[in-house]
Amino acid sequence: MHSELILGHSKRFLRLIEEVDRYASSAWPILLVGETGVGKDLIAQRIHARSPRSRHPFIPINCGALPGGLFESELFGYERGAFSGALQSQRGLVRAAQGGTLFLDEIGELELPLQVKLLRLLESHEIRSVGSHRIDRVDVRIIAATNRNLTEMVQQQTFRQDLLERLSVLPVEIPPLRERIEDLKTIATTLLERLGATLELDTLTPLKEYDWPGNVRQLKNVLIRAHVLGGTHIQSSLLRELIDREKNKTSASTLAESSTSRVTLADIERQVVLDRLKRCHGNRKKAAQELGIAKSTLHDKLRKWKLESPAQAWPLYREPQHPTLAQ
Ligand SMILES: Nc1ncnc2c1ncn2[C@@H]1O[C@H](COP(=O)(O)OP(=O)(O)O)[C@@H](O)[C@H]1O
Ligand SMILES: [Mg+2]
Repeated sequence: MHSELILGHSKRFLRLIEEVDRYASSAWPILLVGETGVGKDLIAQRIHARSPRSRHPFIPINCGALPGGLFESELFGYERGAFSGALQSQRGLVRAAQGGTLFLDEIGELELPLQVKLLRLLESHEIRSVGSHRIDRVDVRIIAATNRNLTEMVQQQTFRQDLLERLSVLPVEIPPLRERIEDLKTIATTLLERLGATLELDTLTPLKEYDWPGNVRQLKNVLIRAHVLGGTHIQSSLLRELIDREKNKTSASTLAESSTSRVTLADIERQVVLDRLKRCHGNRKKAAQELGIAKSTLHDKLRKWKLESPAQAWPLYREPQHPTLAQ
């Protein structure tokens, strides 16, 4: 399996890695919690690679990607004729992970009925294909990951407490990048070195001043963009400009989800208005209508944010000019 080098020297991060490495040798479920882009996938792969199961499959599953029925048959397999279109039986991803690790990514997105089925797997190591009566025993190690607050979801009754308890025997909290400035430095300099780029002495300053809601993934993208645009010698002014673009790109929903403690209602309002204007291609009348406010109210808001003229507002809701270099 492709395994990438995990970078980071901060005390907090080293302690975390030491902890997950110790977890690797056991077969108990692990729950990785952290914002998007902090390295949950990377850590899950590392745990598998260092576990006695490493010769067996590592099967990642995105729990948010498939609607309920499909998810169940993907996960547990199905018998021929279990539903229209089931021409051949399928053993499903859990059986495919036999002996290895099942990585349940975005576990917070799992619908309640599926949570019950997953609980059965965790409690008894047994599964049943859709449309079958036969029960099979499986040997899989479960690693789950989420960027949601599952305890809060339990209180809101959108996540089962018993499932949370089963999943989080070995909990790991991965701190956001802004809380590990040391790692930010290491990751940034190592990545730039690999790209063959050099830094201006003060280049790291703008990186340290931003709070990186998309964490390492976002940092990597910005640095790659800086390299493509700025060549081998990257100026801090270019980084500042790219970071400013990131600030304006962040949509209201990511704002609301990411650094909840820092975002104010006013930030979200501003972002919702700008997102809407962007969707309406700058047409204020239409945007105001869709937002359910008077056009004059929209004008007032834009004036308050000093964005009253289209020239001022446009760069803020312009598409990024460069493709996102997502992995
Ligand atoms: N500590 C790290 N060192 C090097 N690269 C990292 C580190 N953490 C994350 N990354 C990189 O950042 C990107 C996002 O990581 P990923 O594991 O997919 O995050 P998550 O699953 O938490 O959203 C990937 O390209 C990954 O390789
Ligand atoms: Mg991930």
